[in-house]
Amino acid sequence: MPRVANHAIEPLILNRFSPRAMNGQPLTDALLLQVLEAARWAPSAANFQPWRFLYAQAGRPEFAQFLTFLDTYNAEWCVNAGALLIVLSKTTTPDGKPLGPHAFDAGAAWMALALQASALGLVGHAMGGIFADKIRAELAIPAEFAIHCAVALGHKGDIAALPERLRPRETPSDRRPLAESIAAGAFPPAWK
Ligand SMILES: Cc1cc2nc3c(=O)[nH]c(=O)nc-3n(C[C@H](O)[C@H](O)[C@H](O)COP(=O)(O)O)c2cc1C
Repeated sequence: MPRVANHAIEPLILNRFSPRAMNGQPLTDALLLQVLEAARWAPSAANFQPWRFLYAQAGRPEFAQFLTFLDTYNAEWCVNAGALLIVLSKTTTPDGKPLGPHAFDAGAAWMALALQASALGLVGHAMGGIFADKIRAELAIPAEFAIHCAVALGHKGDIAALPERLRPRETPSDRRPLAESIAAGAFPPAWK
């Protein structure tokens, strides 16, 4: 069903969604960098830009390793990704103090890249179903970097090639009404 906004917003925002069907075609350097460039321009606290992205393009030796970082549910459909990303953020400032908004900023960067992927007609799909300890150990990620998510990027593929249970989910999801997420002033009891 087509999405309907409660208030007029940019079609790019409304129409971005997280498909899973991809065709296995590797993402070229040019496309990958174009998508990551969008993340680069996200806003961040004090412009610290705490986000970092590790990537593996399909067809490169590290792609098989990155697939093992995904839980079995995600690995099943990500075999056809064109590239896999791991989203990290630096949890400290350049002078070593804790950086409170590092996760918020990394989230903004993910959204920017997701919108760019969508604008290019690509799949961009975040995944929390990852083995963070394995990622940290195998990719030698220092303790001051948080591991947030993986992201599958790829060229759209045939829905019929997806496992049957995933096919009905290959459609834009809805959202609760805006009024349930906002309140003027104090915290509303309804949110508890
Ligand atoms: C932080 C985060 C973690 C997610 N984890 C997974 C995941 O492990 N597997 C999956 O298939 N989708 C995952 N998703 C996709 C969400 O289910 C999806 O974004 C949500 O249902 C809204 O749908 P839409 O992105 O198509 O609008 C994740 C999304 C985000 C932002």
